[in-house]
Amino acid sequence: MNILGYDPIWKDRAAARFKEEHFRLIREGGFSSVRINLHPFSYMDPENGYKINPEWLEVMEWAVDNALENDLMVILDLHEHRKMGREYDQYEPYFLPFWEQIAGRYHGWPPEVLFELLGEPGNSITPEIWNGLLKEIIPVIRQTNPERTLIIGPAFWSQRFEYLDSLALPEDDRNIIATIHYYEPFRFTHQSAPWMASTRDTSGVLWNSLPEERDAINEDFNVVHEWSEKNNRPVYLGEFGAYDSADIQSRVLWYDFVSRTAEQMGFSWTVWQFDSDFIVYDIDNNQWNVPIIRALIPE
Ligand code: GLC
Repeated sequence: MNILGYDPIWKDRAAARFKEEHFRLIREGGFSSVRINLHPFSYMDPENGYKINPEWLEVMEWAVDNALENDLMVILDLHEHRKMGREYDQYEPYFLPFWEQIAGRYHGWPPEVLFELLGEPGNSITPEIWNGLLKEIIPVIRQTNPERTLIIGPAFWSQRFEYLDSLALPEDDRNIIATIHYYEPFRFTHQSAPWMASTRDTSGVLWNSLPEERDAINEDFNVVHEWSEKNNRPVYLGEFGAYDSADIQSRVLWYDFVSRTAEQMGFSWTVWQFDSDFIVYDIDNNQWNVPIIRALIPE
């Protein structure tokens, strides 16, 4: 389950929507991991070695501790790809110091904590630039965390699977999982989503689980599966979801088909996301979005 990315807790703990009890709820709901979407850059001080604000770190540690206590694996996902992709010169300098601090300070964490280096490398982060960043960052993390499992996705927002082939992962480092995100067909999953110019004015797009609709998803996942076999790397589907405004029956069919297909291919997954939008849990009314959770985790 993706959590905490857009929660006011990072600015003000008293304003938190996500509470301690939600970790237990997620576990009891049948999930086994959380991917914490981190936006640390505005809490780092470029005047002072890009030091991460201690209060921000406290929130992150609170989340990690509570997840582990509730038997949930934790993926620390640096979700600053928008800033890095769009204003590369300004934000690239934050990347290394962030991981240096996290890796250095928390090297004793249990192996159930995983580091995902950047959520969706895109825009100006081309495959070449991304490979260059990886070459720099992996050895730094490995100094303090020689065996920590790392999660790394391909450029183009981890959503163009032919780019898996361009991902240069260190051959002898086997503690790396490849990740992909899945939002296809995009006109269906992002209809009426205000931040997405290409689909913001689209509505009423259905997904009926027709043979050709299922084939399209199978074909995409087959590309990933073949890459995984050939490269001997496990695959993690870190995000997938269909926006709240889409037809609920279509959403149920799509969530069911995508999660079952991922499982058949041997991919682990986390759904996008607990709160905010694409919601799987309705915090305001203290209840699961029942049709969606039943599609993800059949009874
Ligand atoms: C990515 C973006 C997030 C968006 C989601 C679905 O995770 O970072 O902001 O909600 O994709 O479009």
